Amino acid sequence: TPAAPQPYRPTKRTAKDYIFGKLIGEGCYSTVFLAKDIHTGKEYAIKVCEKLYIIRHKKREYVKREKDALNKLFNVPHGFVKLYCTFQDDERLYFVLSYAKNGELLPYINKVGSFELNVAKFYAAELLLALEKMHALGIIHRDLKPENILLDENMHLQIADFGTAKILPPEEIRSNDPCTVPVEEDDDSPGRNDRSRKISFVGTAQYVSPDLLQNRVNTRASDLWAFGCIVYQMISPYLPGGSFEGAEEYTVPDHLEPGFGNNQLVRLWEFDLSTSRGILNISPEERRRRLEVQARENKWHQFVGGELILKQGLVEKRKGLFARRRMLLLTTGPRMFYVDPVNMVLKGEIPWSPELRVEAKNFRIFLVHTVRILSIIIAFI
Ligand code: ADE
Repeated sequence: TPAAPQPYRPTKRTAKDYIFGKLIGEGCYSTVFLAKDIHTGKEYAIKVCEKLYIIRHKKREYVKREKDALNKLFNVPHGFVKLYCTFQDDERLYFVLSYAKNGELLPYINKVGSFELNVAKFYAAELLLALEKMHALGIIHRDLKPENILLDENMHLQIADFGTAKILPPEEIRSNDPCTVPVEEDDDSPGRNDRSRKISFVGTAQYVSPDLLQNRVNTRASDLWAFGCIVYQMISPYLPGGSFEGAEEYTVPDHLEPGFGNNQLVRLWEFDLSTSRGILNISPEERRRRLEVQARENKWHQFVGGELILKQGLVEKRKGLFARRRMLLLTTGPRMFYVDPVNMVLKGEIPWSPELRVEAKNFRIFLVHTVRILSIIIAFI
């Protein structure tokens, strides 16, 4: 007899279902990569969280919030990034999100010139509609700011980053009262409220409402205060700041290996260093300007022989049983210098050789295996 038809069960996704193309965002506890689904060719923004980091820094609750909030918002047709799926491996959690192709809203607003008032009105309206829908579902974002408002391929806005969102219980959603929610402790157990523990507000200082600071309660109005700040920023002639270089067209190449193992991490890191920061391709004038800034503002400048510093971070330099703290400076060249940060003296330079081998533990921690020294743990923070 023929076998009974099996019900369709989509298999759980893994990192091997995606080609990771480039880094597009870094948060306090996550890194976002542009990635391509190898089955459909569709591009996504994949947010990667290191489990060890999440546990050590007590951010489990934040990750769960983000997932819960985005799941609630999935069926809202416009205004929010969508969470398509999540998966994990031993070390990491992965959130597969819609890719907002046109990046952050603010640089466009500040650039458009004569249309700015109309454009600002349009985005204020889109933002307010999205906030109404979000609040109707009982979600308070609590960290609305221009960095969290992204633009899709049709230039419609999408609110992102729900790590600090509050999800109201159903009985509080429909009432007209302002839904006061005590400001929470910055840890894993939002229910706890004993006085011995430090209470800290979530959000970004620039956009925090006065009533939140005074009364330590979070309401839907906190989001509306942030909305007001953003609208002000869109129409204010005083605040553009920084130059806007149009987003470079980048699509994930097909020939790269899928997955998120050591090879891919090293590739992503090298790519981020060499191209997306653009530092190796800058003009001589720009290089001179950046060197001037570095000489003025970076106390490690004196040790790098006139090179531009690409990454810097404290490392444990291991030799036999002993570990010493060093400031490791990776510069254009490429060269690697290490400095005793207590006595502020240059202790040496790691020779750049073909034998140099990088092993990535995650996007922040790399082992650099050199010929002379057994290994160095680099934590670029
Ligand atoms: N940066 C962070 N999340 C993103 C997203 N979903 N799309 C584009 N850039 C992002």
